[in-house]
Amino acid sequence: MTVVTSPSGLAANARPYLHGTELAAIARVLETGQYGHGAETEQFERELAAFLGVEDVVAVATGTAALHLALLAAGVGPGDEVVVPSLTFCASVQAILATGAAPRFADVDPTTLCVTADHVRAALTPTTRAVMPVLYGGRAVDLAPIAADLAARGIVVVEDAAHAFGSAHPGGRRVGTTGALTCFSFDAIKSLTCGDGGAIVPRTPDEAQRLRRVRLLGMGAVREERVRTVGYQVHEAGFRCHLSTLHAAIGRAQLAGFPEIASRRQRLWRSYAAALAGIPDVSLVDLDVARSVPFNCVVRVPAPHRDTVHARLHADGIQAGVHYPPNHRQPAFSAWSSPLPATETLADEILSLPFHPDLTDGDITRVADALAAALRTAPTGSTAAVGQEAGAR
Ligand SMILES: Cc1ncc(COP(=O)(O)O)c(C=O)c1O
Repeated sequence: MTVVTSPSGLAANARPYLHGTELAAIARVLETGQYGHGAETEQFERELAAFLGVEDVVAVATGTAALHLALLAAGVGPGDEVVVPSLTFCASVQAILATGAAPRFADVDPTTLCVTADHVRAALTPTTRAVMPVLYGGRAVDLAPIAADLAARGIVVVEDAAHAFGSAHPGGRRVGTTGALTCFSFDAIKSLTCGDGGAIVPRTPDEAQRLRRVRLLGMGAVREERVRTVGYQVHEAGFRCHLSTLHAAIGRAQLAGFPEIASRRQRLWRSYAAALAGIPDVSLVDLDVARSVPFNCVVRVPAPHRDTVHARLHADGIQAGVHYPPNHRQPAFSAWSSPLPATETLADEILSLPFHPDLTDGDITRVADALAAALRTAPTGSTAAVGQEAGAR
């Protein structure tokens, strides 16, 4: 079973991939009559924990909710600052604002689009309460060089690993196993989808218990206990952002097929790398494909040509995109804006090529050829000057 949204995979920048077992899983859960939080959700949590090799995982409704709840568990609230790259999906920033804290935007390394320990160090202030590295494209972020310093200052690392389920660090440890509060997204276009969903790797059993309460309106008891007894207690402020059994059923089916999809994504990303290698003025953003499960495939093209190239690809039926317009330039976040030179340069250069498991090698060749042609004939700027600049990368 595949989701056919168009005859060509190129007409979608990203799209869900189904393994074929999801429909039966949903039907099985529909027949149980239990659709909110339930046994299926808890089984999904156990299977996620086993896959990652961690003690526990708390499933929630979305990746955004995972970030919000993880920040709350880290003690983040009004008056605090959270360091976050500007080059991320706006969900990272909205999760920070939802706690009452303020974002402190950090710059990124132009070769990986991720923060480094140096970027984080430069953004710390006396009010920093948490740091949110974004594992852009699925690449692990290593903050080990400042881990001791952060711990000494009581600063918690909340990883936005929305793109990075299944990826590993250079030492081989899986993302989610390094002691940070790690948050995953299982939305429609992620390597593992629940339709919508998310998960948090908690640091301690107490933290797991708190997250489980907060995701269910602050109530202490699960549904079965509430039904069995004559009352229930609300322990703290909470939200309704549990993962439904129906979504968990999709997630379980997806997890069973995940190794196949992980290697397919790696193979497709490598095909892109080979196809793009000889094209002047194009540099591929490195996501450490040997250890990562690629979420996307992003290139940098000379800034004067990016918008033209984007338009030409679309005219050619190829849905390129931009991930992401920087958040420090968004109207809603302007109060926290400050100059970020690398991010501002990247903002005009990055282009996400169609990337999802239904692509064929033929599709990838077609994108590479179309990209080369669009750049060859791009009208603006001096290609000689831009070519030199790109060659220096
Ligand atoms: C970097 C990043 N963070 C957070 C999220 C939010 O995840 P969700 O869509 O599951 O709420 C996304 C979703 O695409 C994302 O790309």
